[in-house]
Amino acid sequence: MNRIVVLISGTGRNLQAILDGCDNGTVNGKIVAVISNKPMVTGLERAQKAGIPAIVVPHRDYPDRHAFEQALAHSIDQYQPQTIALSGFMRVLGDDFVNRYLGKMLNIHPSLLPAYPGLHTHRRALEAGDDLHGASVHFVTPELDGGPVVLQGRTTVQADDDEASLADRIMRDIELKIFPQALDWHATGRLTLQNNQAMLDGTPLQKPVQFTELS
Ligand code: GRF
Repeated sequence: MNRIVVLISGTGRNLQAILDGCDNGTVNGKIVAVISNKPMVTGLERAQKAGIPAIVVPHRDYPDRHAFEQALAHSIDQYQPQTIALSGFMRVLGDDFVNRYLGKMLNIHPSLLPAYPGLHTHRRALEAGDDLHGASVHFVTPELDGGPVVLQGRTTVQADDDEASLADRIMRDIELKIFPQALDWHATGRLTLQNNQAMLDGTPLQKPVQFTELS
């Protein structure tokens, strides 16, 4: 069974969707640890409730990013995961850390990448007057939110949408569906990264799979 470590910083709604997917068999893997850089967050409670080790590596306890990432890597490596899910993990990761896990680490990001890497994606999409917005799952590479995108889901921005309504809809209808799906592909070996190219079922992905294309 594929071993998955999930990194979080907060509520853990995506974590819950992965937990549920592992339970009901739609994600062919097993979460072996949940690690948060913040203490006391709801995501840690979700892990505990599921009987999964819930570990805190508090970034504030370390003098610099390098020291924090060394501690984080030490924690991760104890669980020997094949897949690492950045599930609302809100720390920027340095090149050495990212390269250590290249091809193993997937991130969920609330925008249609390459649009809006970084923070406040919903606000930025509204301010730009975009008609379409959504979420993406991508391989993590040293460029922030810049690795190959594998799966996306989109929604039409409504005239009365605000940041909160957009964030809720994208979370519920898109993020919670596409992240477990992409993790299942990775866990079953269907999704790989080769020479910075995402491959699905042995074929280079020329563009991200659209969630609507899936049956
Ligand atoms: C999600 O919107 C994720 O895309 C973003 O942070 C949020 C995390 O939410 N990077 P949760 O912890 O999964 O509830």
